[in-house]
Amino acid sequence: MAVIAGNWKMHHGPADAAAFLTEFDATSVSAAHELIVFPPSISLYAVASSPHRDPRLQVGVQNVHWEDAGAFTGETSAPMAAGAGATFSLIGHSERRHVFGESDEDTRRKVEASLRAGLVPVLCVGETLEERQSGAVERVILRQLDAVLGALRDADRFLVAYEPVWAIGTGETATPADASSAHGTLRARLEEVLGVAGAATVPILYGGSVKPGNALELMSSVDVDGVLVGGASLEPTSFAEIGAAVG
Ligand code: PGA
Repeated sequence: MAVIAGNWKMHHGPADAAAFLTEFDATSVSAAHELIVFPPSISLYAVASSPHRDPRLQVGVQNVHWEDAGAFTGETSAPMAAGAGATFSLIGHSERRHVFGESDEDTRRKVEASLRAGLVPVLCVGETLEERQSGAVERVILRQLDAVLGALRDADRFLVAYEPVWAIGTGETATPADASSAHGTLRARLEEVLGVAGAATVPILYGGSVKPGNALELMSSVDVDGVLVGGASLEPTSFAEIGAAVG
């Protein structure tokens, strides 16, 4: 079983999202795999409520505010996302962290808000190129994970996505060995907190320039349980091809 998740970022408004659903054909993707898309908030309801959505395609929100409601112009709360049909929330994506300055403390509060609303959090972690070059991969990804583990340890379900920042949208991918090493570090920490059996239930996805041509190799790496796909998830055919590629 693998998780194939697509993060549409700031692409696909309601009309384009509807067109995606009409074209997306999951028949080539093994029924054992879980499929999730993260549309922009403005398209969430259109996607979740569309009669053209394959019921296997689950829906998540790309970001939430940590409060449930209030005077926060432009923000989307977790209960609102759940009301629009989301069942997952992406938390701490590198663009949130590095473009919008989101802190580890922000991600913790957003995880808590997601859990309150019944959303399954997908926590994104990953190092920048500078951090990798200075040998800080483990320190950075464990700091990002540790910041939220207190909130996550009692969750019914959560996922982690390892997305090296230097591999996102660049065409560069981590080698399978790099991915396995980072995933192993994350799994070991999860085992310390949740026990071996508990940690085994947490899917750890790889993200960063995943394409139909490299998905299988990455997925075959030890401790990689799925993929989080940006650019290549925008086209219904390439998203389905990634799902089909992983076997
Ligand atoms: P990419 O994005 O596949 O376009 O590199 C991945 C992500 O940011 O989740």
